[in-house]
Amino acid sequence: MRWIPEYQPDVERVERFNAVARITHWGHTVTFLLCLFTGLILFLGGVDWLAAIFGGHRGAGLVHRIAAVGMTLMLVFGLLFGFKGYIAWIKDIFRFGMNDIKFLSIFPLDFFGVKMKIAPQTRFNGGEKMNSVVLMTMVSLLVLSGYIMWFPSIFPAGLVRFSYPTHDLAMIFSTLMVCMHGFLGSLHLGSGESFWGMWKGTVRADWAKHHHAIWYEETYGDKAKAE
Ligand code: HEM
Ligand code: HEM
Repeated sequence: MRWIPEYQPDVERVERFNAVARITHWGHTVTFLLCLFTGLILFLGGVDWLAAIFGGHRGAGLVHRIAAVGMTLMLVFGLLFGFKGYIAWIKDIFRFGMNDIKFLSIFPLDFFGVKMKIAPQTRFNGGEKMNSVVLMTMVSLLVLSGYIMWFPSIFPAGLVRFSYPTHDLAMIFSTLMVCMHGFLGSLHLGSGESFWGMWKGTVRADWAKHHHAIWYEETYGDKAKAE
């Protein structure tokens, strides 16, 4: 049984994500998951089998802080070496129009495997734009509230108290989003090819034309070639 669509090296492929974007994304994924599992130990209290993996509650607290610093460094790495990519990403998110709404309206059917004609999408489709906004906001809240809880003596007491529910709620929303996002970016039949874009850097040209027609035309189409 195959979980992710087969990687096809012999067909026409186009670049989707450069090395900096990929390192930042996977570095972020690993540190996010470490923070999540260790955070759950602190949050739920009774998950002793999980706590045992990280050396008990003290160990979990330590790994949480190390992973948190790793996550922060990944953000800094991405900003330093991929600043243009960040700006292009944010610009694309705000290119939200009718085609994105059309995409979102057929998304539930697409999610359950019904083959649908997709309205032409820019670099990121309507769902990916929503995912970007939600995760960007939630991760920012996690980082800010996390450092405030870590160094409570340098912040006002009210802000420290407020940071606990903020951190918990941001953890819940981001985790729900990441579950859906991780599935769509790997196991989901229709969009699984996107995994290779994030893993090896390229996707099949025919997949790109179907899923991101506007992006494909602007980046690799006849007009882009002529320029
Ligand atoms: C830069 C990023 C982060 C920093 C600085 C940070 C920092 C912290 C600190 C200092 C604590 C308190 C630990 C203790 O009581 O010993 C904590 C708890 C926690 N963190 Fe994070 N964290 C970060 C990211 C994350 C992420 C990405 C998640 C999950 C997606 C997460 C989930 C949790 C949870 C569930 C708790 C337990 C909260 C509670 O007991 O109510 N954290 N974090
Ligand atoms: C759980 C494993 C994960 C998998 C399999 C995965 C997979 C992917 C893939 C394949 C893409 C590229 C989609 C495209 O072609 O546009 C992507 C993009 C992205 N990922 Fe992940 N990812 C994972 C975890 C995460 C985590 C933990 C975060 C942040 C907390 C994250 C944030 C993003 C963002 C913001 C994008 C760009 C917007 C989008 O395409 O939705 N990912 N991911």
